[in-house]
Amino acid sequence: MSNLFNTDDILTDDVHLIQSFADLDGLKQANARTAMVAGKGAHVTDSEGNTYIDGIGGLWCVNVGHGRDEIINAITNQLQQLDYYSTFYNFTHPVAASLAKKVAELAPGDLNRVYFGNSGSVANDSAVRILHHYFNRLGQTKKKKVLARVGAYHGSTHLSIAMTTPAYREGWDSAEELVHHLTCPHFYREGGEHTEEEFLDFLVQELKDAIHQLGAENIACFIAEPIMGAGGVIVAPEGYHKAMKAVTDAHDIKYISDEVVTAFGRLGEMFTSLSVFGVQPDIITTAKGLTSGYQPLSATIISDEIYEVISGPDGLFLHGMTYSGHPAASAAALANIAIMEREQLPEQVRTTGKYFENSLRALIDEDIVGEVRGSHFMMGIEFVKNKAHKTPFEKEDNVGGKIASAAQRRGLIARPLGNNLILSPTLVLDEALINETAQTLRQSIREVQVQL
Ligand SMILES: Cc1ncc(COP(=O)(O)O)c(C=O)c1O
Repeated sequence: MSNLFNTDDILTDDVHLIQSFADLDGLKQANARTAMVAGKGAHVTDSEGNTYIDGIGGLWCVNVGHGRDEIINAITNQLQQLDYYSTFYNFTHPVAASLAKKVAELAPGDLNRVYFGNSGSVANDSAVRILHHYFNRLGQTKKKKVLARVGAYHGSTHLSIAMTTPAYREGWDSAEELVHHLTCPHFYREGGEHTEEEFLDFLVQELKDAIHQLGAENIACFIAEPIMGAGGVIVAPEGYHKAMKAVTDAHDIKYISDEVVTAFGRLGEMFTSLSVFGVQPDIITTAKGLTSGYQPLSATIISDEIYEVISGPDGLFLHGMTYSGHPAASAAALANIAIMEREQLPEQVRTTGKYFENSLRALIDEDIVGEVRGSHFMMGIEFVKNKAHKTPFEKEDNVGGKIASAAQRRGLIARPLGNNLILSPTLVLDEALINETAQTLRQSIREVQVQL
Protein backbone atom coordinates (compact mmCIF):
# COMPACT_ATOMS: atom_id res chain seq x y z
CA MET A 1 0.00 0.00 0.00
CA SER A 2 1.29 3.47 -0.84
CA ASN A 3 2.19 5.55 2.14
CA LEU A 4 -0.86 7.84 2.37
CA PHE A 5 -0.05 9.01 5.85
CA ASN A 6 2.94 10.76 7.28
CA THR A 7 3.85 8.83 10.41
CA ASP A 8 5.77 11.75 11.90
CA ASP A 9 2.72 14.03 11.58
CA ILE A 10 0.45 11.43 13.16
CA LEU A 11 2.79 10.84 16.08
CA THR A 12 3.25 14.58 16.62
CA ASP A 13 -0.54 15.06 16.80
CA ASP A 14 -0.78 11.95 18.95
CA VAL A 15 0.98 13.74 21.82
CA HIS A 16 -2.44 15.28 22.56
CA LEU A 17 -4.26 11.95 22.57
CA ILE A 18 -4.52 10.05 25.84
CA GLN A 19 -4.35 6.33 25.07
CA SER A 20 -6.40 3.83 27.08
CA PHE A 21 -4.85 1.31 29.49
CA ALA A 22 -1.41 2.51 28.46
CA ASP A 23 1.96 3.23 30.03
CA LEU A 24 1.72 6.95 29.26
CA ASP A 25 5.32 7.50 30.34
CA GLY A 26 6.60 4.67 28.14
CA LEU A 27 4.65 6.10 25.21
CA LYS A 28 6.82 9.24 25.34
CA GLN A 29 9.65 7.24 23.80
CA ALA A 30 10.16 7.35 20.05
CA ASN A 31 8.55 4.54 18.04
CA ALA A 32 6.48 3.39 21.01
CA ARG A 33 3.21 3.83 19.15
CA THR A 34 1.77 2.20 16.04
CA ALA A 35 -0.71 4.19 13.95
CA MET A 36 -3.22 1.98 12.16
CA VAL A 37 -4.60 3.63 9.05
CA ALA A 38 -6.52 1.00 7.06
CA GLY A 39 -8.26 -2.34 7.33
CA LYS A 40 -9.67 -4.94 4.99
CA GLY A 41 -11.06 -8.36 5.92
CA ALA A 42 -8.78 -10.03 8.47
CA HIS A 43 -5.95 -7.52 8.00
CA VAL A 44 -4.97 -4.02 9.12
CA THR A 45 -2.27 -1.70 7.76
CA ASP A 46 -0.15 0.81 9.64
CA SER A 47 1.07 4.26 8.59
CA GLU A 48 4.36 2.76 7.35
CA GLY A 49 2.49 0.50 4.95
CA ASN A 50 3.02 -2.70 6.99
CA THR A 51 0.09 -5.11 6.84
CA TYR A 52 -0.78 -7.42 9.73
CA ILE A 53 -3.23 -10.17 10.55
CA ASP A 54 -5.48 -8.45 13.07
CA GLY A 55 -5.17 -11.07 15.78
CA ILE A 56 -7.17 -9.01 18.26
CA GLY A 57 -10.07 -8.02 16.00
CA GLY A 58 -9.57 -4.33 16.81
CA LEU A 59 -10.38 -4.97 20.48
CA TRP A 60 -12.35 -8.24 20.43
CA CYS A 61 -14.90 -6.47 18.29
CA VAL A 62 -14.41 -6.47 14.50
CA ASN A 63 -16.21 -9.79 14.18
CA VAL A 64 -17.30 -9.62 10.51
CA GLY A 65 -13.89 -8.26 9.46
CA HIS A 66 -12.75 -4.84 8.33
CA GLY A 67 -14.06 -2.76 5.43
CA ARG A 68 -17.52 -4.24 4.94
CA ASP A 69 -19.29 -1.97 2.43
CA GLU A 70 -22.70 -3.21 3.50
CA ILE A 71 -22.29 -1.79 7.00
CA ILE A 72 -20.60 1.38 5.80
CA ASN A 73 -23.44 2.01 3.32
CA ALA A 74 -26.11 1.31 5.94
CA ILE A 75 -24.51 3.93 8.20
CA THR A 76 -24.25 6.47 5.37
CA ASN A 77 -27.83 5.90 4.20
CA GLN A 78 -29.13 6.27 7.71
CA LEU A 79 -27.21 9.51 8.26
CA GLN A 80 -28.68 10.89 5.03
CA GLN A 81 -32.19 9.90 6.12
CA LEU A 82 -31.94 11.02 9.75
CA ASP A 83 -28.60 11.90 11.29
CA TYR A 84 -29.70 11.97 14.88
CA TYR A 85 -32.71 11.85 17.03
CA SER A 86 -32.99 10.69 20.61
CA THR A 87 -34.92 7.86 22.22
CA PHE A 88 -35.68 10.12 25.18
CA TYR A 89 -39.21 10.92 26.46
CA ASN A 90 -41.78 9.72 23.93
CA PHE A 91 -39.44 9.68 20.91
CA THR A 92 -38.38 6.64 18.96
CA HIS A 93 -37.13 5.92 15.47
CA PRO A 94 -37.52 2.92 13.20
CA VAL A 95 -33.93 1.61 13.22
CA ALA A 96 -33.52 1.54 17.01
CA ALA A 97 -36.96 -0.08 17.28
CA SER A 98 -36.25 -2.78 14.71
CA LEU A 99 -32.80 -3.45 16.20
CA ALA A 100 -34.38 -3.88 19.65
CA LYS A 101 -36.83 -6.39 18.15
CA LYS A 102 -33.99 -8.26 16.41
CA VAL A 103 -31.82 -8.39 19.56
CA ALA A 104 -34.81 -9.60 21.61
CA GLU A 105 -35.39 -12.38 19.06
CA LEU A 106 -31.76 -13.48 19.26
CA ALA A 107 -31.44 -13.27 23.04
CA PRO A 108 -32.47 -16.38 24.99
CA GLY A 109 -35.76 -16.89 26.85
CA ASP A 110 -37.72 -13.91 28.06
CA LEU A 111 -34.93 -11.32 27.55
CA ASN A 112 -37.23 -9.19 25.44
CA ARG A 113 -36.53 -5.58 26.43
CA VAL A 114 -33.44 -3.74 25.26
CA TYR A 115 -31.81 -0.62 26.61
CA PHE A 116 -29.12 0.73 24.26
CA GLY A 117 -25.97 2.50 25.40
CA ASN A 118 -22.71 3.32 23.71
CA SER A 119 -20.20 1.03 25.44
CA GLY A 120 -19.89 -2.20 27.36
CA SER A 121 -19.11 -0.17 30.49
CA VAL A 122 -22.38 1.73 30.15
CA ALA A 123 -24.27 -1.51 29.44
CA ASN A 124 -23.02 -2.93 32.76
CA ASP A 125 -23.63 0.30 34.70
CA SER A 126 -27.13 0.38 33.25
CA ALA A 127 -27.79 -3.22 34.28
CA VAL A 128 -26.91 -2.48 37.91
CA ARG A 129 -28.80 0.83 37.99
CA ILE A 130 -31.87 -0.85 36.54
CA LEU A 131 -31.69 -3.63 39.14
CA HIS A 132 -31.31 -1.16 42.01
CA HIS A 133 -34.41 0.64 40.77
CA TYR A 134 -36.23 -2.67 40.28
CA PHE A 135 -35.60 -3.71 43.89
CA ASN A 136 -36.51 -0.21 45.15
CA ARG A 137 -39.86 -0.54 43.43
CA LEU A 138 -40.41 -3.90 45.09
CA GLY A 139 -39.69 -2.29 48.46
CA GLN A 140 -36.41 -4.22 48.86
CA THR A 141 -34.41 -1.04 49.15
CA LYS A 142 -31.35 -2.60 50.79
CA LYS A 143 -30.63 -4.94 47.86
CA LYS A 144 -27.66 -3.04 46.39
CA LYS A 145 -24.46 -5.10 46.50
CA VAL A 146 -22.92 -6.69 43.44
CA LEU A 147 -21.09 -10.00 43.55
CA ALA A 148 -18.26 -10.00 41.01
CA ARG A 149 -15.08 -12.05 40.51
CA VAL A 150 -11.34 -11.46 40.71
CA GLY A 151 -10.11 -11.68 37.11
CA ALA A 152 -13.25 -10.12 35.63
CA TYR A 153 -13.33 -7.14 33.29
CA HIS A 154 -16.59 -5.18 33.12
CA GLY A 155 -15.46 -1.73 31.95
CA SER A 156 -13.95 1.56 33.05
CA THR A 157 -16.72 3.77 34.38
CA HIS A 158 -16.64 4.19 38.14
CA LEU A 159 -19.10 1.37 38.74
CA SER A 160 -17.92 -1.03 36.05
CA ILE A 161 -14.27 -0.72 37.14
CA ALA A 162 -15.36 -1.46 40.72
CA MET A 163 -16.85 -4.74 39.44
CA THR A 164 -13.65 -5.42 37.49
CA THR A 165 -10.70 -7.29 38.96
CA PRO A 166 -8.75 -5.14 41.47
CA ALA A 167 -5.56 -5.59 39.39
CA TYR A 168 -7.03 -3.26 36.75
CA ARG A 169 -7.21 -0.29 39.12
CA GLU A 170 -3.94 -0.30 41.02
CA GLY A 171 -3.31 3.28 42.13
CA TRP A 172 -6.85 4.33 41.17
CA ASP A 173 -9.97 4.74 43.28
CA SER A 174 -13.05 2.60 43.07
CA ALA A 175 -16.60 2.46 44.44
CA GLU A 176 -15.62 -0.65 46.36
CA GLU A 177 -18.36 -0.50 48.96
CA LEU A 178 -20.90 -1.70 46.39
CA VAL A 179 -18.95 -4.74 45.26
CA HIS A 180 -17.79 -8.03 46.76
CA HIS A 181 -15.24 -10.05 44.77
CA LEU A 182 -15.25 -13.84 44.69
CA THR A 183 -12.30 -16.08 43.73
CA CYS A 184 -11.26 -16.19 40.10
CA PRO A 185 -12.50 -19.53 38.70
CA HIS A 186 -9.11 -20.29 37.10
CA PHE A 187 -8.28 -23.91 37.88
CA TYR A 188 -4.66 -23.71 36.60
CA ARG A 189 -3.76 -20.85 38.96
CA GLU A 190 -6.28 -21.14 41.80
CA GLY A 191 -7.04 -24.88 41.92
CA GLY A 192 -4.10 -25.76 44.21
CA GLU A 193 -4.04 -29.46 45.05
CA HIS A 194 -7.76 -29.89 44.32
CA THR A 195 -9.36 -31.76 41.45
CA GLU A 196 -11.41 -29.58 39.11
CA GLU A 197 -14.64 -30.91 40.71
CA GLU A 198 -13.38 -30.04 44.19
CA PHE A 199 -12.38 -26.59 42.98
CA LEU A 200 -15.90 -26.07 41.61
CA ASP A 201 -17.37 -27.16 44.96
CA PHE A 202 -15.10 -24.63 46.67
CA LEU A 203 -16.26 -21.80 44.36
CA VAL A 204 -19.92 -22.63 44.93
CA GLN A 205 -19.43 -22.87 48.68
CA GLU A 206 -17.58 -19.54 48.66
CA LEU A 207 -20.60 -17.94 46.95
CA LYS A 208 -22.97 -19.42 49.55
CA ASP A 209 -20.71 -18.20 52.36
CA ALA A 210 -20.51 -14.69 50.86
CA ILE A 211 -24.31 -14.53 50.63
CA HIS A 212 -24.59 -15.73 54.21
CA GLN A 213 -22.05 -13.16 55.40
CA LEU A 214 -23.41 -10.16 53.43
CA GLY A 215 -27.08 -11.14 53.71
CA ALA A 216 -29.17 -11.91 50.61
CA GLU A 217 -31.36 -8.94 51.53
CA ASN A 218 -28.36 -6.67 50.74
CA ILE A 219 -27.32 -8.26 47.42
CA ALA A 220 -28.82 -7.18 44.10
CA CYS A 221 -26.92 -9.27 41.61
CA PHE A 222 -24.05 -11.47 40.52
CA ILE A 223 -22.20 -10.45 37.35
CA ALA A 224 -20.08 -12.81 35.26
CA GLU A 225 -18.58 -13.07 31.80
CA PRO A 226 -19.26 -16.56 30.39
CA ILE A 227 -15.51 -16.72 29.66
CA MET A 228 -13.40 -14.01 31.29
CA GLY A 229 -11.76 -11.95 28.57
CA ALA A 230 -9.44 -9.12 29.51
CA GLY A 231 -8.58 -10.91 32.77
CA GLY A 232 -6.65 -13.42 30.67
CA VAL A 233 -9.25 -15.56 28.84
CA ILE A 234 -10.25 -17.72 31.77
CA VAL A 235 -12.65 -20.60 31.33
CA ALA A 236 -14.35 -21.67 34.55
CA PRO A 237 -14.71 -25.37 35.43
CA GLU A 238 -17.45 -27.22 33.55
CA GLY A 239 -20.86 -26.56 35.15
CA TYR A 240 -19.69 -23.44 37.05
CA HIS A 241 -22.24 -20.98 35.66
CA LYS A 242 -25.17 -23.36 36.16
CA ALA A 243 -24.10 -24.05 39.73
CA MET A 244 -23.64 -20.34 40.52
CA LYS A 245 -27.03 -19.53 38.96
CA ALA A 246 -28.78 -22.17 41.09
CA VAL A 247 -27.40 -20.49 44.23
CA THR A 248 -28.23 -16.92 43.15
CA ASP A 249 -31.77 -17.99 42.14
CA ALA A 250 -32.31 -19.54 45.55
CA HIS A 251 -31.53 -16.18 47.17
CA ASP A 252 -33.41 -13.87 44.80
CA ILE A 253 -30.13 -12.47 43.47
CA LYS A 254 -30.28 -11.49 39.80
CA TYR A 255 -27.75 -12.94 37.36
CA ILE A 256 -26.12 -10.58 34.84
CA SER A 257 -24.24 -12.29 32.04
CA ASP A 258 -21.66 -9.92 30.55
CA GLU A 259 -21.58 -11.03 26.91
CA VAL A 260 -19.74 -7.95 25.67
CA VAL A 261 -17.13 -10.25 24.09
CA THR A 262 -18.76 -13.69 23.88
CA ALA A 263 -21.88 -12.71 21.90
CA PHE A 264 -22.21 -12.32 18.14
CA GLY A 265 -20.27 -15.27 16.87
CA ARG A 266 -16.93 -15.35 18.70
CA LEU A 267 -17.78 -18.73 20.29
CA GLY A 268 -19.98 -19.94 17.42
CA GLU A 269 -23.29 -18.63 18.80
CA MET A 270 -25.14 -15.30 18.70
CA PHE A 271 -25.41 -15.50 22.50
CA THR A 272 -23.65 -18.11 24.61
CA SER A 273 -25.17 -17.90 28.13
CA LEU A 274 -27.87 -20.48 27.50
CA SER A 275 -26.71 -22.31 24.39
CA VAL A 276 -23.14 -22.95 25.60
CA PHE A 277 -23.22 -22.50 29.37
CA GLY A 278 -26.78 -23.65 30.15
CA VAL A 279 -27.79 -20.49 32.03
CA GLN A 280 -30.82 -18.30 31.42
CA PRO A 281 -29.66 -14.93 32.83
CA ASP A 282 -31.95 -12.19 34.12
CA ILE A 283 -29.93 -9.64 32.14
CA ILE A 284 -27.44 -9.97 29.30
CA THR A 285 -25.15 -7.06 28.47
CA THR A 286 -23.40 -6.87 25.12
CA ALA A 287 -21.53 -4.43 22.84
CA LYS A 288 -18.46 -4.95 20.57
CA GLY A 289 -19.65 -7.64 18.08
CA LEU A 290 -23.13 -6.07 18.07
CA THR A 291 -21.87 -3.62 15.42
CA SER A 292 -18.51 -5.36 14.82
CA GLY A 293 -17.05 -2.10 16.11
CA TYR A 294 -18.23 -0.03 13.12
CA GLN A 295 -20.17 2.20 15.52
CA PRO A 296 -20.19 2.49 19.33
CA LEU A 297 -23.25 0.64 20.61
CA SER A 298 -24.17 -1.57 23.55
CA ALA A 299 -27.29 -3.32 24.74
CA THR A 300 -28.60 -4.15 28.20
CA ILE A 301 -31.20 -6.84 27.56
CA ILE A 302 -33.57 -7.39 30.46
CA SER A 303 -36.22 -10.00 31.24
CA ASP A 304 -39.94 -9.38 30.86
CA GLU A 305 -40.22 -9.87 34.61
CA ILE A 306 -37.80 -7.01 35.42
CA TYR A 307 -39.41 -4.83 32.77
CA GLU A 308 -42.90 -5.39 34.22
CA VAL A 309 -41.72 -4.01 37.55
CA ILE A 310 -39.82 -0.98 36.24
CA SER A 311 -42.55 -0.03 33.76
CA GLY A 312 -45.44 -0.12 36.23
CA PRO A 313 -47.38 2.99 37.34
CA ASP A 314 -45.98 5.69 39.64
CA GLY A 315 -42.37 5.84 38.60
CA LEU A 316 -40.11 7.17 35.89
CA PHE A 317 -37.24 5.48 34.12
CA LEU A 318 -34.67 8.10 35.12
CA HIS A 319 -31.78 6.77 33.07
CA GLY A 320 -30.63 7.89 29.65
CA MET A 321 -27.69 8.63 27.37
CA THR A 322 -27.91 11.11 24.51
CA TYR A 323 -26.65 8.48 22.07
CA SER A 324 -28.87 5.63 23.27
CA GLY A 325 -30.01 3.78 20.16
CA HIS A 326 -28.26 6.28 17.88
CA PRO A 327 -29.75 5.84 14.37
CA ALA A 328 -26.38 5.33 12.64
CA ALA A 329 -25.19 2.86 15.28
CA SER A 330 -28.48 0.95 15.13
CA ALA A 331 -28.26 0.81 11.32
CA ALA A 332 -24.70 -0.53 11.60
CA ALA A 333 -25.86 -3.24 14.02
CA LEU A 334 -28.75 -4.31 11.78
CA ALA A 335 -26.45 -4.56 8.74
CA ASN A 336 -23.82 -6.39 10.81
CA ILE A 337 -26.33 -8.95 12.09
CA ALA A 338 -27.71 -9.37 8.55
CA ILE A 339 -24.19 -10.28 7.33
CA MET A 340 -23.72 -12.73 10.21
CA GLU A 341 -27.03 -14.42 9.44
CA ARG A 342 -26.60 -14.50 5.67
CA GLU A 343 -23.03 -15.80 5.81
CA GLN A 344 -23.87 -18.08 8.74
CA LEU A 345 -20.82 -16.73 10.49
CA PRO A 346 -21.51 -18.25 13.93
CA GLU A 347 -22.05 -21.66 12.31
CA GLN A 348 -18.80 -21.24 10.35
CA VAL A 349 -16.94 -20.34 13.56
CA ARG A 350 -17.92 -23.72 15.01
CA THR A 351 -15.46 -25.17 12.45
CA THR A 352 -12.90 -22.40 11.87
CA GLY A 353 -12.91 -21.27 15.49
CA LYS A 354 -12.33 -24.83 16.67
CA TYR A 355 -9.49 -25.13 14.15
CA PHE A 356 -8.02 -21.88 15.53
CA GLU A 357 -8.37 -23.15 19.09
CA ASN A 358 -6.67 -26.46 18.28
CA SER A 359 -3.86 -24.76 16.33
CA LEU A 360 -3.07 -22.60 19.34
CA ARG A 361 -3.43 -25.49 21.78
CA ALA A 362 -0.65 -27.23 19.84
CA LEU A 363 1.77 -24.53 21.12
CA ILE A 364 1.69 -26.20 24.54
CA ASP A 365 4.76 -28.20 23.49
CA GLU A 366 6.93 -25.05 23.63
CA ASP A 367 9.08 -24.88 26.80
CA ILE A 368 7.68 -21.61 28.16
CA VAL A 369 4.00 -22.23 27.34
CA GLY A 370 2.30 -23.16 30.61
CA GLU A 371 -1.33 -23.10 29.56
CA VAL A 372 -3.29 -22.50 26.37
CA ARG A 373 -6.90 -21.75 27.20
CA GLY A 374 -10.11 -20.38 25.78
CA SER A 375 -12.57 -21.42 23.16
CA HIS A 376 -12.93 -20.87 19.40
CA PHE A 377 -11.82 -17.31 18.52
CA MET A 378 -11.20 -16.29 22.14
CA MET A 379 -7.84 -17.63 23.26
CA GLY A 380 -5.12 -16.93 25.82
CA ILE A 381 -1.58 -18.32 26.16
CA GLU A 382 0.18 -18.15 29.53
CA PHE A 383 3.97 -18.24 29.65
CA VAL A 384 5.88 -19.72 32.59
CA LYS A 385 9.51 -19.96 33.67
CA ASN A 386 9.10 -23.54 34.80
CA LYS A 387 6.30 -25.67 33.43
CA ALA A 388 6.27 -28.36 36.11
CA HIS A 389 5.99 -25.77 38.89
CA LYS A 390 3.92 -23.24 36.91
CA THR A 391 6.49 -20.62 37.99
CA PRO A 392 5.47 -17.21 36.64
CA PHE A 393 7.93 -14.89 34.93
CA GLU A 394 8.79 -11.65 36.74
CA LYS A 395 6.90 -8.51 35.70
CA GLU A 396 10.21 -7.03 34.46
CA ASP A 397 10.67 -9.97 32.08
CA ASN A 398 7.78 -8.48 30.10
CA VAL A 399 7.31 -11.81 28.36
CA GLY A 400 3.90 -11.06 26.87
CA GLY A 401 5.13 -7.70 25.59
CA LYS A 402 8.26 -9.19 24.05
CA ILE A 403 6.38 -11.98 22.27
CA ALA A 404 3.73 -9.53 21.04
CA SER A 405 6.49 -7.29 19.60
CA ALA A 406 8.17 -10.27 17.93
CA ALA A 407 4.81 -11.26 16.43
CA GLN A 408 4.15 -7.72 15.24
CA ARG A 409 7.52 -7.67 13.43
CA ARG A 410 6.38 -10.85 11.67
CA GLY A 411 2.98 -9.44 10.67
CA LEU A 412 0.63 -10.44 13.48
CA ILE A 413 -1.04 -8.22 16.07
CA ALA A 414 -1.54 -10.01 19.41
CA ARG A 415 -2.30 -8.50 22.79
CA PRO A 416 0.13 -8.83 25.69
CA LEU A 417 -1.25 -9.06 29.20
CA GLY A 418 1.51 -9.63 31.74
CA ASN A 419 2.71 -13.20 31.21
CA ASN A 420 -0.10 -13.87 28.76
CA LEU A 421 -0.83 -13.28 25.13
CA ILE A 422 -4.42 -12.85 24.02
CA LEU A 423 -5.85 -13.65 20.62
CA SER A 424 -9.34 -12.57 19.59
CA PRO A 425 -9.18 -12.15 15.80
CA THR A 426 -11.86 -11.28 13.29
CA LEU A 427 -14.16 -14.24 12.66
CA VAL A 428 -13.31 -14.34 8.96
CA LEU A 429 -9.90 -15.98 9.43
CA ASP A 430 -9.69 -18.98 7.08
CA GLU A 431 -7.56 -22.07 7.51
CA ALA A 432 -4.56 -20.55 5.69
CA LEU A 433 -4.55 -17.43 7.87
CA ILE A 434 -5.03 -19.54 10.99
CA ASN A 435 -1.97 -21.62 10.03
CA GLU A 436 -0.01 -18.42 9.43
CA THR A 437 -1.09 -17.06 12.83
CA ALA A 438 -0.09 -20.24 14.67
CA GLN A 439 3.25 -20.42 12.87
CA THR A 440 4.02 -16.76 13.60
CA LEU A 441 3.22 -17.31 17.25
CA ARG A 442 5.49 -20.35 17.43
CA GLN A 443 8.40 -18.48 15.80
CA SER A 444 7.88 -15.46 18.06
CA ILE A 445 7.72 -17.62 21.21
CA ARG A 446 10.95 -19.40 20.17
CA GLU A 447 12.71 -16.11 19.46
CA VAL A 448 11.91 -14.76 22.93
CA GLN A 449 12.48 -18.14 24.64
CA VAL A 450 16.09 -18.11 23.47
CA GLN A 451 16.64 -14.56 24.81
CA LEU A 452 15.21 -15.51 28.21
C1 LIG B 1 -16.45 -8.46 29.10
C2 LIG B 1 -16.37 -6.97 28.93
N1 LIG B 1 -17.30 -6.20 29.52
C3 LIG B 1 -17.29 -4.87 29.39
C4 LIG B 1 -16.32 -4.24 28.65
C5 LIG B 1 -16.32 -2.76 28.55
O1 LIG B 1 -16.70 -2.38 27.27
P1 LIG B 1 -16.33 -0.92 26.74
O2 LIG B 1 -14.85 -0.89 26.57
O3 LIG B 1 -17.08 -0.84 25.44
O4 LIG B 1 -16.82 0.06 27.73
C6 LIG B 1 -15.34 -5.00 28.01
C7 LIG B 1 -14.30 -4.35 27.21
O5 LIG B 1 -13.32 -4.94 26.80
C8 LIG B 1 -15.36 -6.40 28.16
O6 LIG B 1 -14.42 -7.17 27.60
